[in-house]
Amino acid sequence: MTSEPRTRRGEHSKRSGDRPLDTKVSKTPLLAKIPVLKAFVSPDSLPIPAAQEQRETTQSGRPVDVPPWTLPGTQLRASARHARRGWYAPAATGAPSTTRQVEVLNTAIVAAPTGTEGVVQGRDNLSRTLISHDPATAYNMQPRQITSPNVLIFGTVGSGKSSLAKTNYVLRPLTLYHRRAVVYDKKADEDHGEYTDLAHQLGSTPLMFTGDGTGTRLNMLDPNIIRAQGLQGQTLLLSTVAQIARNDTPATEWEAKAIRHAVVTTLQRFQGGRVATPADLLPYLGEVPNDDDLSPESKERLHQAGLSVRFALEGLLQEYSGLLDGETSKDVDLGHKLTVFDLSGLPDTGPAVPAVMSIGNMWLMGRLRSDRGYFTNVLYEEGWHLVDGPAARVVKAGEKLSRALGISTVFLMHKGTDIPADSPGYTVVQEAQTVHIFRQDRPEDAAWAVRTFNLDPASEEIVMNLQPGHHLFKYGSNPEVHVQHIRSRWEAAVTNTDGAIAQVAR
Ligand SMILES: Nc1ncnc2c1ncn2[C@@H]1O[C@H](COP(=O)(O)OP(=O)(O)OP(=O)(O)O)[C@@H](O)[C@H]1O
Ligand SMILES: [Mg+2]
Repeated sequence: MTSEPRTRRGEHSKRSGDRPLDTKVSKTPLLAKIPVLKAFVSPDSLPIPAAQEQRETTQSGRPVDVPPWTLPGTQLRASARHARRGWYAPAATGAPSTTRQVEVLNTAIVAAPTGTEGVVQGRDNLSRTLISHDPATAYNMQPRQITSPNVLIFGTVGSGKSSLAKTNYVLRPLTLYHRRAVVYDKKADEDHGEYTDLAHQLGSTPLMFTGDGTGTRLNMLDPNIIRAQGLQGQTLLLSTVAQIARNDTPATEWEAKAIRHAVVTTLQRFQGGRVATPADLLPYLGEVPNDDDLSPESKERLHQAGLSVRFALEGLLQEYSGLLDGETSKDVDLGHKLTVFDLSGLPDTGPAVPAVMSIGNMWLMGRLRSDRGYFTNVLYEEGWHLVDGPAARVVKAGEKLSRALGISTVFLMHKGTDIPADSPGYTVVQEAQTVHIFRQDRPEDAAWAVRTFNLDPASEEIVMNLQPGHHLFKYGSNPEVHVQHIRSRWEAAVTNTDGAIAQVAR
């Protein structure tokens, strides 16, 4: 701040006319002696009588010279001395503001965070304009707006991930033509999964998976699995389940060979007959192929490798009897617009959840091969089971096929820092073209999100301070937008809790 008194803009011309003029002007400029043109000479350069005459002439209203400093518009800086002392500086100090905040004043920028096609996601927190996006719509546009329909939703506990997923990836898309949703529901809400009420509202019954033999069963040799990606897919699935069962120990080359042999032999034996199940495959794990030109030592090694996988799978089938040991239950189908795989009865840790998710992932692709024409949103609550571990190989291998089949996979996770940068799961994360980032409490998690999705560095602080229901939304290479997810009263009731639904129903 300067101690000098300051003028407001526009007051200067009046003051310059009233103040005593500089008496040290000794030489009258030549221009001041020429009629008409003398009006353009600064009063500072005029001798006092001439300046006085000029002012009086203007005030009399006669059509005479009009000095430019009496006209509205940019003011003449008549005195270099006053300019030096800050007389012409703005009287008020500007308000501090970030470029991002000021974007709201630029309608060219705020007008187009998204188009209006697809599903309403919420509203732009700054401009209050509607944010609309639907991966299926954006993927099918000409030209394509995104190259992958997969979606990632990150956020700390209670930040609003599931509410967004239920509303924007289940309820709203299901009102569109030829759409359906499949949900892997993990979080228990009383004695069932948190999507149970939503499913009931839409007329479907969740498939309950339990570890005590009373629930639904999935067969890892289901014909839909071989239909999805052939022998290669079937072998990949078995070695992935074995890896999950062995606490993330990958199959060696010998074990992979033993698995391949067991799969081929089992499928040949059961061709044209009943559906093969894991119990049918186990005896062939450890069997050594006759036609291979192997030394006795190599045969023994192959036999041991097969046995090692057999013991791991046997242990899994016994531990979760009724879950994986037998033909797929008849009610596992896509008879409704919404299919919920309720995994809330399975333990939070251990192999059951990732095993069911991996088998279900491949089962679905095979099932959709014979049921084209729909676009399917597949939601994985606690999606890290698929992205951060052996199951990521199954997802990665099926990405191309799932695009061809019209699947948009939605992964919900707390954070991404655990996903190793050189893992198949990280590739899955990088390939997703739609991202919702809810609040991240830890700076390293916020920094990870900013780095991985190429967000504005200033977004790191925003991510750490988001309210529930608020998130940063980014699709394709468009800049991220701070979105407030808005739900109708009915949507809020249906996506929240039992009690709320009961109130709405009353
Ligand atoms: N759009 C919203 N507007 C206002 N409040 C919301 C909104 N979305 C969620 N909430 C509030 O946040 C709570 C938690 O939401 P939600 O269950 O979706 O969080 P979450 O991130 O899935 O949590 P978790 O990690 O435990 O699964 C809701 O019960 C609700 O009170
Ligand atoms: Mg949740």
